[in-house]
Amino acid sequence: MITWNPALRGRQLRTMSDFSDEEMMEIVDLAIALKARKDAGVRGDLLRRRNIALIFEKSSTRTRNSCVVAAQDEGGNAQYLGGHDTHFGHKESVKDSARVLGRLYDGILFRGYRQDTVEQLAKWSGVPVWNGLTDESHPTQILADLMTLKQAFGDVRGRKLVYMGDGRNNVANSLMMGCAKAGVHYVNCTPKELLPEPALVAKAAEIAARHGATVAVESDPATAVRGANALYTDVWVSMGEEAKTAERLRLLRPYQVNMDLCRATGNLGGELVFLHCLPAFHDDQTEVSKDTGAQEVADDVFEAPFSRVFDEAENRMHTIKALFVSAIGDPAAG
Ligand code: CP
Ligand code: NVA
Repeated sequence: MITWNPALRGRQLRTMSDFSDEEMMEIVDLAIALKARKDAGVRGDLLRRRNIALIFEKSSTRTRNSCVVAAQDEGGNAQYLGGHDTHFGHKESVKDSARVLGRLYDGILFRGYRQDTVEQLAKWSGVPVWNGLTDESHPTQILADLMTLKQAFGDVRGRKLVYMGDGRNNVANSLMMGCAKAGVHYVNCTPKELLPEPALVAKAAEIAARHGATVAVESDPATAVRGANALYTDVWVSMGEEAKTAERLRLLRPYQVNMDLCRATGNLGGELVFLHCLPAFHDDQTEVSKDTGAQEVADDVFEAPFSRVFDEAENRMHTIKALFVSAIGDPAAG
């Protein structure tokens, strides 16, 4: 029997701040329970007759497909609305489209550029809205990351995670808040040109302190990773920032996660995992990396036994399912 905190009904996820620290971990625990049930071959119906709109302005493999599979697994329906497929934001304002889609759907997941679009959808649709990535934040990703850490370590509190790379991107912002709320020591290792917003760092540090954890920003990779239990990286150029490619390659080359850096943690061969939200440039097998080869992570780290990137990708589905179920699911439908 799958149960969850009734206080999660109707809740949205615009940023990590929408859940209390305890609620965030309850979503992760619900995802673990839903995964166990699916692994046991038990089919659920918790989203029966629930319809979810997926509004995507940017590309996606994991997030889009996680939503579709999560809904279908529990008897619900997720409808993809991409690019110029609808009038959203082109011929109709976000506010008007929100009010229309909110009459038709039980929930809306949005991926796109502006954080304000998520805020407007949440304000005007009248249904739960989940942020599937904006320029500023990527909270659904971080639920999967915490689930993966929990699978690796059990209790995540007191573990040390080091994020290497573009210190001011959407993943780095949400990961910092997620780690703080989970009591994970967080280090953002990035060059001085790409520092995170000081106000966000201060807020995260205050939250982390409630759990006896810390938040730090560091520019020297070897210093940053000492004692790390998790090394995390993301692409050096996020969607929409392609014009900055040459500058980012120059700035971030010393921040690549490679075996030397893994050794510098002191935990290689012990309690160390590698995480990446994906997609990753770990070889020359993509259009983007065919000339550069590996960028943010070396291929031998990406393929190493301590790399948990495909568990993490799978966990996108379980955690998105937990979000949908807890907000709009029917507890009686088992
Ligand atoms: N990690 C992630 O959000 O992947 P997609 O861009 O494929 O959705
Ligand atoms: N920072 C990346 C994350 C992709 C999942 C981007 O925004 O492109």
